[in-house]
Amino acid sequence: MSSIESVLTENRSFPPPVAFARDARVKSLIDYEALYERAAREPEAFWGEVACDLHWSTPWKQILEGAFPETADSEGVRWFVGGTLNASLSCVDRHAHSWRKNKAAIIFEGEPGDTTVITYGQLHREVCKAANALTSLGIKAGDFVAIYMPMVPEAAIAMLACARIGAPHTIVFGGFSADALADRIADCSAKAVITADGGWRRGQVVPLKHNVDKALEGVTSVEHVIVLQRCSNEVAWTKRDVWWHEVVETASAKHEAQAFDSEHPLFSLYTSGTTGKPKGILHTTGGYLTNAAYTTKMVFDLRDDDVFWCTADIGWVTGHSYVVYGPLANGATVLMYEGAPNAPRSDEFGGSGDGQDRFWDIIERWGVTVFYTAPTAIRAFMKWGDQYPAKHDLSSLRLLGSVGEPINPEAWMWYRKQIGGDRCPIVDTWWQTETGAIMISPLPGAIPTKPGSATRPLPGIDVDVVTREGVPVGPNQGGFLVIKRPWPSMLRTIYGDHARYVSTYFGEIPGMYFAGDGARKDADGYFWIMGRVDDVINVAGHRLSTMEVESALVSHPKVAEAAVVGRPDELKGQAIVAFVTPRAGMVADDALARELRAHVATQIGALARPEEIRFAEALPKTRSGKIMRRLLREVASGSTARGDTTTLEDQGVLERLAQSFAHDD
Ligand code: WTA
Repeated sequence: MSSIESVLTENRSFPPPVAFARDARVKSLIDYEALYERAAREPEAFWGEVACDLHWSTPWKQILEGAFPETADSEGVRWFVGGTLNASLSCVDRHAHSWRKNKAAIIFEGEPGDTTVITYGQLHREVCKAANALTSLGIKAGDFVAIYMPMVPEAAIAMLACARIGAPHTIVFGGFSADALADRIADCSAKAVITADGGWRRGQVVPLKHNVDKALEGVTSVEHVIVLQRCSNEVAWTKRDVWWHEVVETASAKHEAQAFDSEHPLFSLYTSGTTGKPKGILHTTGGYLTNAAYTTKMVFDLRDDDVFWCTADIGWVTGHSYVVYGPLANGATVLMYEGAPNAPRSDEFGGSGDGQDRFWDIIERWGVTVFYTAPTAIRAFMKWGDQYPAKHDLSSLRLLGSVGEPINPEAWMWYRKQIGGDRCPIVDTWWQTETGAIMISPLPGAIPTKPGSATRPLPGIDVDVVTREGVPVGPNQGGFLVIKRPWPSMLRTIYGDHARYVSTYFGEIPGMYFAGDGARKDADGYFWIMGRVDDVINVAGHRLSTMEVESALVSHPKVAEAAVVGRPDELKGQAIVAFVTPRAGMVADDALARELRAHVATQIGALARPEEIRFAEALPKTRSGKIMRRLLREVASGSTARGDTTTLEDQGVLERLAQSFAHDD
């Protein structure tokens, strides 16, 4: 049986959604394979064609310069060399100056239920005003601007305004604490911070400006803090602070955008690696935008009449690529929702019930057609119950997406049936902050899906599963996920630490980009991602380093030593378990556990708060003194036997891979 036939037979119970395939850009597996092969044969010509979808002010002279592996003294990979462009022209101006002028660019719904619709014409004016405001405050091309905002349209406007004047942004998720914010601002020496008086989250105000004030106590680079008024929350004020409405609303709506080099930094985004210090993943303009735009178009088979809703916060890479840059570059209508998935609208806005149907309510009221969310959210929806989606008419949906962590087959099936009505294809998309855009995903309608598999790499992307030595493994054997050729939206460096960039991504497996994930490829060439093999854990789709949490714990005066591991969790994917040895004389009791959990929340953010703290007189160590994490992982997960055997098998393989990766065990 050929591989195509076996895929189709295996999926007998999931007939490819015919109605979808009829209109899809890529209509069949054969078409996908032809496209993939062409891109593999002539990758540069392929990416050159793709990049033509953007608005370039100066054409490039060369498509790609540099090759893998990256080394400390190589020039680095560069895409569309010599080309110039302005990201905000491609995302805003060209639509504002077309028939899309009065098309909705952003549909916004606040958690209380307030709504705003911003057309491309209006978005253009707002971005120009914000760009002029930043310039009037002395922000220039190359200056970093930190953004610490709720999910409101002004967050997207701020990003695009920064891009417009060539000031790279660094967005810090609103759930991070003042300390975490301070580290990130200091690392890139941000010259300004854009924030809000607060944002709504489950009926409470997140005190963003207050956190900025605390963060800036020890930071000297910041000259201005621009504050959006969102919640009428009282805030302290100093002379470096300005109101958004005072500087932006009074600025001119005319702004001539200058074109920047294709390799001009667009943003850096901090993410967790294996050490305690988060790394600033640096993305540049031409390559990043090319791939963000291309993947949005292909993976979501985007149409002009779509209402595209990616539920990620802009503080994560998914929010960068699939709330802002990718959809807007395509002239799409995006939906932005500010709050929690289980917050009802307030009485003032006609709210009723417990709010656990908020997402379905939004989909019904706005006619959302493409919905992209994380497995953790899907598992929570499953737990809340079928009655919530059942209350709503979800027939506008035509495509569903999943991102951020492996999706278990049970959640996949529920998503398909209860949300997609067995009509909508699911795209399970694998990618990372570092890759900038989706790398492995079905093309809907063309690639038959298997629940739990991200299926095949996108055309132009050369991924594989290999041994530590870089040798491809056989079908269904576990190995390391690698990318073998440069791609336009790859990170260019870790800001301020090129040596760490080279060693982290190119120093592990000879000649290739190492993603940090374990995976297997089945006989049909389908990829099954198994999870991280390094000390990164994925809690509710949020990426955290065990060492980051350990550093937070040992910074507490009552802690002598700490080791943090992830254990499987039915809802969050992984839960944080911390083994802690208190300093001599300290009482290891519940009160201390509570104190330590709160301490981690202050140091990093509530998302890093350990689920469980286990006190131990000593931590198990090797003779050379290294903590035996493998043992701790086993201890931590010992009590959680799970029903799903495939997952258990995968975990066994993953554990062995992790062992071969982590030299300290
Ligand atoms: C994991 C999020 C399985 C993976 C876009 C990766 C996934 C890390 C998937 C990156 C998926 C992301 N299936 N695992 N579809 N998508 N991951 O940088 O471990 O926040 O390395 O980017 O999330 O997380 P990051």
